[in-house]
Amino acid sequence: MISKKILITGGAGFIGSHVVRLFVNKYPDYEIVNLDKLTYAGNLENLRDIEKNPNYRFIKGDIVDAPSMLKLFNEENFDGVIHLAAESHVDRSLENPNEFVMTNIIGTVNLLQAALKSWGNDPSKRFYHISTDEVYGSIDGGLFTEHTSIDPQSPYSSSKAGSDHFVKAFHNSYKLPVLISRCSNNYGPNHFPEKLIPLMINNILENKQLPVYGKGENIRDWLYVEDHASAIDAIFHKGKTGEVYNIGGNNEWRNIDLVNFLCSLMDKKLDRAEGTSAKLITYVKDRPGHDLRYAIDSSKLQNDLGWSPSLTFEVGLERTVDWYLNNKEWLSHVTSGQYKEYYTQMYNKR
Ligand code: NAD
Ligand code: TYD
Repeated sequence: MISKKILITGGAGFIGSHVVRLFVNKYPDYEIVNLDKLTYAGNLENLRDIEKNPNYRFIKGDIVDAPSMLKLFNEENFDGVIHLAAESHVDRSLENPNEFVMTNIIGTVNLLQAALKSWGNDPSKRFYHISTDEVYGSIDGGLFTEHTSIDPQSPYSSSKAGSDHFVKAFHNSYKLPVLISRCSNNYGPNHFPEKLIPLMINNILENKQLPVYGKGENIRDWLYVEDHASAIDAIFHKGKTGEVYNIGGNNEWRNIDLVNFLCSLMDKKLDRAEGTSAKLITYVKDRPGHDLRYAIDSSKLQNDLGWSPSLTFEVGLERTVDWYLNNKEWLSHVTSGQYKEYYTQMYNKR
């Protein structure tokens, strides 16, 4: 195995922590450097099991700070970057879009500049940008392919689309060896309870209302987070530079059906009578500009790189619920303080 030094940005977040864990455990000869600002979404508790591994190192840093990114790349001589650091929540982007422009666009351009200064167009290097299917906008029928036009609708997806364009521009203009992947909605352990599934799990545990936006008819495709991490591994090692790869679970759910399914699973797990949790469902004011449906075609990744999801949604959701039930301390830490303020601000006006 060839030894490599890889920078993973945003490795203390939900998906990033699963990617860091996979790389640290699967590639003991690699040196994995995790750079994270530790915003509200970054949590070193996500990495307790691997933090003492000799091939792992954490750096607290901000990708918006251009001089320190240049210095870091100068000092470290990375072989590759897997860039996950981002502001990631649509509802927050509607309240504070500037933060999304700063981290998702400016932060990504800072990393691109630092990589270009350090690497030039050395084809052995890899700058891998983790993006989202939300850049394609909403689709009524059919599936997003890698050729679907970019048509973002929210401040979050617009900032991700902006960063995707810059990544492509650095490939077109300077031959920086880049890769981009666009994945559908992830779920699984360590998911911050501002997103649909962990928020509903937390509220069911606390006997709080389950706020379903609008009529609950919006559709998302859901993928278990470890399957996203294994796709990232495949693309980082086998993907063709300059290319985009879609990643998806082939697993579309209407929000209301998903919430009902989760309610009955939680009733079983908590030994409550069937129907107890579903009584908490409350329809609330819709999200402005709420994308109706995301649905993704990941056949390029499946055919070219041999990846496929390993879990059904039923198995993945049960694993997720079990993780939250077995990690109540994690949940109580992340839902204390700031989270309470966020929840009041976001949901009291709905
Ligand atoms: P997350 O919000 O859980 O984690 C983001 C991480 O980035 C946190 O650890 C945070 O501290 C860090 N971060 C934020 N700003 C930073 C900065 N300025 N400098 C350094 N670190 C910073 O997000 P996630 O859900 O794990 O998503 C990770 C990536 O995957 C994002 O780029 C997101 O757009 C993309 N993505 C997410 C999903 C999903 O369903 N969650 C789906 C597709 C793509
Ligand atoms: P979310 O997890 O925020 O992901 P995204 O908006 O990036 O797809 O939301 C998933 C879906 O669930 C989306 O259609 C909005 C909806 N939703 C609710 O109905 N209630 C909630 O409290 C949240 C957070 C989301």
